[in-house]
Amino acid sequence: MDIYSIAIDGPAGSGKSTVAKELSDRLGIIYVDTGAMYRTVAYYCMKNGISTTDGKAVAEALDNIKMDISIEDGVQRMILNGEDVTGLIRSAEVGQGASDVGTFVPVRDRLVEMQQEMAKKTSVVMDGRDIGTVVLPNAEVKIYLNADVEERARRRRKDFLAKGVDEPLESVVEQIRRRDHNDMTREYNPLRKADDAVEIDTTGLNVEQVTEAIMKIVNEKTGKKTGEK
Ligand code: DC
Repeated sequence: MDIYSIAIDGPAGSGKSTVAKELSDRLGIIYVDTGAMYRTVAYYCMKNGISTTDGKAVAEALDNIKMDISIEDGVQRMILNGEDVTGLIRSAEVGQGASDVGTFVPVRDRLVEMQQEMAKKTSVVMDGRDIGTVVLPNAEVKIYLNADVEERARRRRKDFLAKGVDEPLESVVEQIRRRDHNDMTREYNPLRKADDAVEIDTTGLNVEQVTEAIMKIVNEKTGKKTGEK
């Protein structure tokens, strides 16, 4: 097997990105964070006074967005019209904006095509909401991560605190619920578990435990082990 893909989907705060990064390190393959791409579109709109809920305006804005993705030292950097916006897209507001722009067909079609191109060229661990269902329906490994909403909110709050943002837990729970509802009920390619994905409930598990569980599945499906390319 030359090129293979690992698809990881799940709701906000389920641990996708942390685990995906860890897997990509162990396997020596690229990690693609697709949420960062939706965030970049949202960031452009928010910066330019375009409402992230206005489908027509967002679709028109796409023509003015040149999005480049580069991987530096294993870290994905998002370049928007020549500007590195990697750090600027991580706020909760941009996260909600990303969820909004992700409801529009032209946005999804454009980003899904970019994601599929990336996975054609090289082996990837890709995380998002529609990877196992739409982007990489033939991925060798499909995982659906889930966790209690309270636990997910506690994880998110910890991330915010690390960045100096102190948000009450209840407000983070509320943000997460709103975003999940939006992502799961949108008409076009909503968040759902692919029929052939393995679901892992990460509540009470640490990164090592989840990574190990997935590595086992990767090994069964692809024969790949830690440290092997
Ligand atoms: O994974 P994240 O929190 O960075 O994603 C932000 C939002 O982007 C998410 O709430 C919905 C949208 N998104 C999507 O619709 N499809 C993806 N594959 C990834 C993210």
